[in-house]
Amino acid sequence: TGDFTLTGKGAARVVIVGGGIAGLAVAYELGKAGYDCTVLEARDRTGGRNFTVRGGDTNLDLSGNRQTARFSDGQYLNAGPARIPQWMVTMDYCRELGIPVEVFTNVNASAYIYNEKAGMTAPVRYRTAKADVYGYVSELLAKATDTGALDAELSAEDRERLLEFLKGFGDIGGTLRYEGSERRGYRVDPAASGTPGVELGAVPSASEVFASGVGRYFSFEFGYDQAMLMFQPVGGMDRIPAALTRAIGAHRIRTGAAVQRITDTAHGVSVTYTEHGRVRTLDADYCVAALPPNILARTAHNLGADVQTALEACKPSSAGKIGLEYRSRWWESDHRIYGGITETDLDLAHVWYPSYGHHGRRGLIVGYYNTGAQADAYARLTPREREARAVAQGVKIHGEKYRTELASSFSHHWRQTPYLEASWHSLSGGPDAPVFDPLNKPAGRVYFAGDHLSYADAWQHGAFTSARKVVTALHARVLT
Ligand code: PHE
Repeated sequence: TGDFTLTGKGAARVVIVGGGIAGLAVAYELGKAGYDCTVLEARDRTGGRNFTVRGGDTNLDLSGNRQTARFSDGQYLNAGPARIPQWMVTMDYCRELGIPVEVFTNVNASAYIYNEKAGMTAPVRYRTAKADVYGYVSELLAKATDTGALDAELSAEDRERLLEFLKGFGDIGGTLRYEGSERRGYRVDPAASGTPGVELGAVPSASEVFASGVGRYFSFEFGYDQAMLMFQPVGGMDRIPAALTRAIGAHRIRTGAAVQRITDTAHGVSVTYTEHGRVRTLDADYCVAALPPNILARTAHNLGADVQTALEACKPSSAGKIGLEYRSRWWESDHRIYGGITETDLDLAHVWYPSYGHHGRRGLIVGYYNTGAQADAYARLTPREREARAVAQGVKIHGEKYRTELASSFSHHWRQTPYLEASWHSLSGGPDAPVFDPLNKPAGRVYFAGDHLSYADAWQHGAFTSARKVVTALHARVLT
């Protein structure tokens, strides 16, 4: 699939409500095809949920928490999207817009797993957990094969091949028993002659391994959306809205413009918005409503009861992150972790180590990335309390440097963010369920775009592909 381009020129005026990825992509693609576009963005920056927090950035949430990031130069938190699978069209936009990308490390054998509720008192490395789980699963399957439990399923030849596979998969050798493996890692690493290394001791029993629940995280990377390799723009995810904004032309984008009413008239669209307290009206031939459905549901419009019902059926979700800047990269020097994710059953859920700036002086860890009730619980705390909670939990996994090396933090919650009030949306039955029909076609001269109207909600790919679908339909209509 090559770059997307509309064929032929159109000259209509289009007003785009919402300067997130969907709205910017609509303006960008229509602009390439000759349209006269204006983007109305309620906030003082474009990008929507694509928000990269750097030193000096300030934020006021709906609970009244005001924060100013004190991150040092070069350190950033991607508070929204932070990883891009290779297959998503987001990669095509990075290429087309000249945005350099680098590998985002989504899984790391050296990162930890920590299941406190299962009674773990110390974290285990992914590599160790994998060796044990794969080892025992292989041993058990080999036993079942050898005792004839699979004879109805498998021919003698199949059974031989399965055993051959299990020997390698579980490192269970000639005995077909798992007795530990060098894959678990070393207490003393192999080095020069005389130093063969000392393997990690005390191999847990199969029962202990299954009780620890470590295996539940392995399938994450099997997912189509989460498999390595993954990528990120060099310097922060907001390189994408920044490049789109440049390509569209800053003069076509009005920030601080909060839309109050969308009126479809027989021959055009009239959009009323406030800008610095003044009420203004913009008339155009078409409108693309690329704002969150939960926000549009509270905006005056004459687009019909079915549209309103569909908007209200898009249920907002919660997610939050905290960026913890450290004075040293102790996770690299002391723990030998260079990027990747530690998985836990704590309410911080995931800890992300930075995939950039390795061996630099400072570094920034995502101290929690959680969703649903866990995100709501952290959102109810003050930023200071969130930091204290995240650090207290993180110390259990990483030790005291998690507290003592901390320089500053910044936390962000999407459900509490003005003009968004959602991390993403859940559409019961998917975007093609009948109740959402009114959003998948124009209401008069008003079109709808956003990642919620895609099969990749909570991904920029969803916003980009929804935008492409809408501009294709609008352009076809203009040309006939
Ligand atoms: N795209 C987001 C992420 O990768 C949210 C998401 C998580 C979407 C998991 C689908 C699956 O974190």
